[in-house]
Amino acid sequence: MSRSAHPAGPRHADVLPEGHYSAPPADLNALDAKVWAQTVSRDEHGVVTVGGVDVKALAEEHGTPAYVLDESDFRARARAWRTAFGADADVFYAGKAFLSRAVVRWLHEEGLNLDVCSGGELATALSAGMPADRIALHGNNKSTQEIERAIRAGVGRIVLDSFQEIVRVAHIAQSLGKRQRVQIRITVGVEAHTHEFIATAHEDQKFGIPLAGGQAAEAVRRALKLDGLELIGIHSHIGSQIFDMSGFEVAAHRVVGLLKAIRDEHGVELPEIDLGGGLGIAYTSADDPREPHEIAKALTEIVTRECEAARLRTPRISVEPGRAIVGPTAFTLYEVGTVKPLDGLRTYVSVDGGMSDNIRTALYDAEYSVALVSRTSDAAPMLARVVGKHCESGDIVVKDAFLPGDLAPGDLIAVPATGAYCRSMASNYNHVPRPPVVVVADGASRVIVRRETEEDLLRLDVG
Ligand code: LLP
Repeated sequence: MSRSAHPAGPRHADVLPEGHYSAPPADLNALDAKVWAQTVSRDEHGVVTVGGVDVKALAEEHGTPAYVLDESDFRARARAWRTAFGADADVFYAGKAFLSRAVVRWLHEEGLNLDVCSGGELATALSAGMPADRIALHGNNKSTQEIERAIRAGVGRIVLDSFQEIVRVAHIAQSLGKRQRVQIRITVGVEAHTHEFIATAHEDQKFGIPLAGGQAAEAVRRALKLDGLELIGIHSHIGSQIFDMSGFEVAAHRVVGLLKAIRDEHGVELPEIDLGGGLGIAYTSADDPREPHEIAKALTEIVTRECEAARLRTPRISVEPGRAIVGPTAFTLYEVGTVKPLDGLRTYVSVDGGMSDNIRTALYDAEYSVALVSRTSDAAPMLARVVGKHCESGDIVVKDAFLPGDLAPGDLIAVPATGAYCRSMASNYNHVPRPPVVVVADGASRVIVRRETEEDLLRLDVG
């Protein structure tokens, strides 16, 4: 198919989507720094480079699709969070966003702690040398084995999620002759996503113990009585991809209210509060995330103010950012396989991955950006939908985007901001092996999670 054969923008004018894609960007070759990893730029040939390595070389060496992660960007973001919160607070990176041994080592070196929520994440953290006392174990249904492993290893805290778990963890700790440091996760009736939050949301969800109706206070009463537990604080996580700090404000107000009630009833001032993760990143140019220092300042001020009003000593604050650290540091590199213009509608661009390496578009209607990265183009923009190779029409990677009208098979395109919840939520749907995670730094690339092979898949098939 010749490059010029594809229809360009104007033919799609009748179906232009709402919002930030309602018009093509002025320059399709430009890379918005907001959505791309820090070291991404174009070289003198128009080829995109990251960490000093160009994407054609990356595709050649590691194949496509591949997650390409900018190590210096990851370290810089981790450090920015650490510095912003300072010595009187703790930053726990949420491993669910993306975890590997290299990531654990970077976090360790940059002075962050780690939040894990399964035996697998715990094993990864420990095997890469994260000191156990800097690990927090989460989860709404931790198995007895997971709890036992965590306590034996000496994790810094276990976040208790239910009445049964309070007793279960206490019992296991006691049987091991230990006293486990714990927090109780409560739901404060705040739900926050992106630009909105609802402060009167019903606590109708599986996580945590509701503040409403006195349940959280009862959980504290029980935990304080058990010898196997050292209750160090209260935990609250209100949602994800949040830009608006007012949800945290209401949550902090309610958590501090509980701390005050605990002080009044038990004469105990709990020394810590954890406000969870959920801070948003830019997936498209329309998103305007806050910087870590702004977030740290806002959260610290809220908690300090609330504690002063309640005449409490300000507790040590911790936070659990996942997406905000790793999300922007990676992009997914794909090769274009087919380009299918549908007259008067849009052009379907099929890539060699799809919903198995990024389920977020199908699952959450998530928005992403995309760019042609193996060359520049002066062709007119075409309204495109980037789709995968799976047997499902909902297999969409980028729902609406403009790409150059001369896009052709063999071109490399990249979807930025795929560092969080893409590899970690990847599947083998249609027996497609999961892509590798390739790290770039200082002009060199290396694989930190290798590409899955068909042999890997067949090894599990023991029938
Ligand atoms: N802490 C707790 C207790 C959490 O449940 C989560 C995320 C985090 C921290 C980290 O949140 P972050 O800063 O990464 O937003 N799969 C979804 C996100 C699920 C988040 C679950 N909990 C997505 O792809 O958007």
